[in-house]
Parts: sequence; structure tokens; C-alpha cells
Amino acid sequence: MKPLRIALTKGRLEKDTVNLLEQIGLDCTQVREKGRRLILPVGNGEIEVVLAKAADVITYVENGVCDLGVVGKDTIMENGSHFYEILDLGFGRCRFALACRKGTDFFGGYKAKTVASKYPNVARQFFESRAMDVRIIKIEGSVELAPLLGLADGIVDIVETGTTLKENGLEVTETIAGISARLIANTASLKMRKQEIEALAARMEAQIEKNREEKSV
Ligand code: PRP
Repeated sequence: MKPLRIALTKGRLEKDTVNLLEQIGLDCTQVREKGRRLILPVGNGEIEVVLAKAADVITYVENGVCDLGVVGKDTIMENGSHFYEILDLGFGRCRFALACRKGTDFFGGYKAKTVASKYPNVARQFFESRAMDVRIIKIEGSVELAPLLGLADGIVDIVETGTTLKENGLEVTETIAGISARLIANTASLKMRKQEIEALAARMEAQIEKNREEKSV
């Protein structure tokens, strides 16, 4: 049987997922000692881990070359979803927020507003839901610069601890959506390999629940 192939978002989500896979009893030694390798066996070879950038995890799953993927809800919201979202993994928790310079009233006045974001689709949808005509400018990173330099009235960005906003004189105007890591599945894989996928997802879910209970004690 071909291994079940799961694409992980490189970095923090990868680490959290590997911890979870180990907790459910799968040997992840090869991933821990990966060097520069990008495809690695897990367990007794029943699973194969692929390491990719967040948006590429979605591309590989949508195109069926990976059966499963672990990716943040932020990337899912920005990049669409021709796949099934099967489990909230609980880690990688943060939120999407609209933020502005401290003390400014984003929703005040009649002048059309400009917003900078690494997530133009998320920003556009948010303002459309408010029936607000806002100009969106795509920025690749350190979006906090845009209002400080006078390019934008506000930003739509990820807020985790709030430190980046605070240290740059910005503050949250409104929370847009909560974010956490999700397990996603290719639509055909979920039909063809239903039992394997559901069994793995159930083991992960039970472990997440156990970790949550232990944390709350
Ligand atoms: C993200 C986000 C904020 C920061 C928020 O940036 O875009 O800048 O983290 O975290 P905080 O609330 O804990 O301060 P990232 O580190 O991904 O880099 P980027 O700005 O270059 O995208």
C-alpha cells in the first residue's frame, strides 16, 4: 500500500504536528533528523511527510499529490478551498485583525480608506461584508510599516501576542476571525482512503482532547 502522504507547513506548524504525531505513537526520527530533505517517512512507513510553504500545502493537496495537509486557517481563508477541512488541530492559534495607529478612528470620516495587507482576499471579503469600499494594497511582509509611512489608514494582519502592533504604535480596531492549524484532505483521497484518513484523524483528535484536558488541570 502506498504511504498516506501528508504535507506540513514548514516551521512552527511542522514542529507542533510532529509532536502530535509522536504523541499518537508514530516514529518521527527521520523528520527530526531531516537535514535538507523534504520528503520523509514517518511511523513504519505508513505515512510520508512532505515539507512545504503554507500556500503550497494547499496546492499539493488540491491537486491530489498529497492526501492530507496541515495549514493555518489564515492560508485557507486567503487561498480558497477545493478540499475538505477535517480537523481543527488547536495549535498555531492567533487571529486576523484590522489595526490602525493608536487613537485613530478607522471607521470615522467620509474619505475612502486604504488598507495594506499580506492577505488581500481576506481584507477584501471583510470590507465587502461591511459594504465598505476600501482600497486594498498588497504588502509582502512587515505590513505594520504601511500606516506608519502613510501608505495606508490601517492593516489587516495576523495578531498573535500583539507585541508587534504595540511596539509600532498600532492597536487592534476589530478582530476579523480566529485562526488555528487545520488538517485538510484531498477530496478524492477522502473517498479512496476514507478508513485510513478517518482513523488517523480520530487518533489525532483524541490526543488533542487529552492534551487540552491535561493543560486545564
Ligand atoms: C506576523 C504578523 C505580525 C506578527 C504578529 O509576522 O504579520 O507582524 O507576526 O505577531 P505578534 O502579535 O506576536 O507580535 P511574521 O513574523 O510572520 O512576519 P512578516 O510580518 O514578515 O509576515
